[in-house]
Amino acid sequence: MSSSAGPAVVVRPIDPTDERALRAWWEVGDAASRERAYDAWPAWDVARLSLPRARPDLDVTFLVAVDDDGRAVGAGRLTLFRSDHLYLAELEVYVVPEARRQGVGSAVLADLEARAVADGRTALFGTAYAPVGAESAGSLFCAARGYPVASHEETKLLDLRTAPASWAALDADVAAGLGDYTVVGFERHVPEEHVEAFCAMLSVFSSMVPTGDLELGRASWTPERLHETEQRTLESGHTWIGALGVAPGGTACAFSELDVPDADPRTASVGGTLVLPEHRGHRLGLAMKLHTHRRVLELYPGCEHVETGNAGVNAPMNAVNEAMGYRVVERALDVQKRVGATAS
Ligand SMILES: CC(C)(COP(=O)(O)OP(=O)(O)OC[C@H]1O[C@@H](n2cnc3c(N)ncnc32)[C@H](O)[C@@H]1OP(=O)(O)O)[C@@H](O)C(=O)NCCC(=O)NCCS
Repeated sequence: MSSSAGPAVVVRPIDPTDERALRAWWEVGDAASRERAYDAWPAWDVARLSLPRARPDLDVTFLVAVDDDGRAVGAGRLTLFRSDHLYLAELEVYVVPEARRQGVGSAVLADLEARAVADGRTALFGTAYAPVGAESAGSLFCAARGYPVASHEETKLLDLRTAPASWAALDADVAAGLGDYTVVGFERHVPEEHVEAFCAMLSVFSSMVPTGDLELGRASWTPERLHETEQRTLESGHTWIGALGVAPGGTACAFSELDVPDADPRTASVGGTLVLPEHRGHRLGLAMKLHTHRRVLELYPGCEHVETGNAGVNAPMNAVNEAMGYRVVERALDVQKRVGATAS
């Protein structure tokens, strides 16, 4: 679908299990992501394993915009959440630099939006990255297309080659604050005795993390969904590294997790970190993060960076991250547009 007054491209879905088509999609995203502040686009060896993998809790549609010469110049991805956040759709648009400002991004966006609306979604969100203190093509495109910023997030990077040298002082801080709380590390699978408490924490996580105006309610995590996710993560060549904070009574009350792609373990990514409100103030956030980051270095000595993102207003998390050595490298603008009859 290309708009009548728009560019000479045809927008069409691709089958992500068709590796040639997926590679063309990936190359557009790769070219469009080079302007980011760091090497953020997943390596092909990582992407080719994880992108085609179907998930019961997500419906993902991949689109390409093809020009008159048959070359993919634009790409899009629509993610529809099937287990929770049923009102929400995530949209991504990428255009190669040499084909910009010709309406390709708008054509891809229009197709993604039509699919989301047809599925009854009333909140469409995406993320545009921009340098600190400046706009970018992405942020200006989102503003021009009716997507105001719902949450001002920041991407932070920690240099694993230098930061650990300053962690001894943090260990003393943790030892003074932890009291009778303990930290239990795990890889790939949550220890069976903590699965129930972990699922309960995951279910409230999205409603407890500061996300500005972004609409994120509770989710519903069951042991079955957790085990499916663990299995899928393994099969897609990723190693999940986590830590649990355990309260004096033996119940898990906090978690922090990160992910390392085995095919390109140079950069690890933090997923979520949560300390339940009644258990805050014991340095659990810092203790768990120190544990997971050290474990990454043990398992992947060549890992150079850990990447994380969170809202600029999330003061407690930012304090922990800064103490560990994270530095802000770019703005991550979570943008959201309301659509449909029930969007008010
Ligand atoms: C953002 C992006 C998809 C835009 O693609 P595009 O094909 O250039 O977009 P369009 O030509 O449809 O632009 C539509 C409007 O957005 C605005 N816009 C887009 N890029 C802009 C820029 N660099 N500066 C100012 N305004 C811009 C303009 O209003 C433009 O209309 P105009 O050209 O008539 O003035 C592309 O720059 C990109 O791939 N960036 C990196 C990935 C990204 O940030 N994606 C968006 C968030 S998911």
